[in-house]
Amino acid sequence: MIRVGVIGAGYIGMVHLDQLARLGVKIVKVVDNNPELAKRAAAKYGIEHWSTKADDIVNDPSIDVVHNCTPNKFHFDINKRSMENGKQVLSEKPLAMTAEEAEELWNVSVKHNTVTGVDFCYRYYPVVQEAAARIARGELGDVRMVFGTWFQDWLSMETDYSWRLERAENGMSNVTADLGSHWFDLVQFLTGRKVTDVMGDLATLIPIRKKPKKQVLAFEHLEAADSVDVECSLEEYSAVHFRLDGTVPGSFTTCQLCNGRKSEPLFEIYGKECSYAWNHKDPTRLWIGHRFKPNEELIENASIMHPEAAKFAVLPAGHPLGYYDAVMHLFKDFYDAIEAGEGADQGSRRPTFFTGYEEMKILAAIIESNDKRRWESVK
Ligand SMILES: NC(=O)c1ccc[n+]([C@@H]2O[C@H](COP(=O)([O-])OP(=O)(O)OC[C@H]3O[C@@H](n4cnc5c(N)ncnc54)[C@H](O)[C@@H]3O)[C@@H](O)[C@H]2O)c1
Repeated sequence: MIRVGVIGAGYIGMVHLDQLARLGVKIVKVVDNNPELAKRAAAKYGIEHWSTKADDIVNDPSIDVVHNCTPNKFHFDINKRSMENGKQVLSEKPLAMTAEEAEELWNVSVKHNTVTGVDFCYRYYPVVQEAAARIARGELGDVRMVFGTWFQDWLSMETDYSWRLERAENGMSNVTADLGSHWFDLVQFLTGRKVTDVMGDLATLIPIRKKPKKQVLAFEHLEAADSVDVECSLEEYSAVHFRLDGTVPGSFTTCQLCNGRKSEPLFEIYGKECSYAWNHKDPTRLWIGHRFKPNEELIENASIMHPEAAKFAVLPAGHPLGYYDAVMHLFKDFYDAIEAGEGADQGSRRPTFFTGYEEMKILAAIIESNDKRRWESVK
């Protein structure tokens, strides 16, 4: 049985543990800097060992697979040393803090023939897979224009705090790295095209925030918490104009101060033959737009989907899948690749460290474009 260690037991770490439990792999150790969180996770999932040091997993020869659920600035070191120690690695996104780090991680994975994964989970909604399958078969026709947004409200007050907002904690970007990496992954996966040129406009809307003295996990709101004022100079707003393969135009806007919007990644892809639109708010439905016949709505349903998408629509039609299922299916692809002895595979349909590296290059170009107030190429 594959033996797994999970590092980071905050918001997403608990999601990983939950889905790993569904998959039936053996979770042998969980680590979090905060002993209370490590203990809580171990108790909830019946894990024998917990600790507060990532190295207790990275250097444990009995562990085959590492799930890295720590904040972004710890991704590079933990991912790299885990691969050098012969482990397969599933990392949270964004893969690293810079494109250079991400490139090195990709190179190390090739050197050690590591099976890698990055948790770009939104790909794994069945109708998103179906849209990708239809586009690959030419059913949309040539892609003419791409549009999207992702609005949230969990950082809309000055009393909302996350390590994501502090430059010292999170480097060059907050929301462009956090949500933009997911969204650009979706667009590249769906269209099979690459983002080649970008023009970014980023804004920090609440530059000073009240940081609670007690640890606050992602999406937590601590009302009237004892706090200190801290500078949060990273952006909560980002708008990006871009081109796919140097030609197809697109735009994406994201912001975390949009009261009432919880977490709504949305894409619209307009092709020569028809249009596809999807919104995470209603994730089982794909809107299909036509000019000379009534528009359609495809609800996830294995019996009317292409096989590579149908395999993810595992419940009878009318029984909706959700976020947990998307994450579980990404993990399943990753563990299937390990069992098949795949190694570092650049051509995979699942997101690997190569995908993570591509996303970091897009992010670096957006940041440079914003700094210089002009279009930049993705290098
Ligand atoms: N794929 C997704 O949909 C998704 C969603 C949310 C977060 N994420 C990613 O997951 C990562 C973690 O985000 P989160 O929302 O869970 O944050 P969080 O703040 O809720 O949790 C992070 C946890 O890591 C622990 N930690 C910090 N440094 C550590 C270290 N060196 N070793 C061990 N534990 C450490 C903290 O104590 C905390 O419990 C980020 O990279 C984020 O971008 C991905």
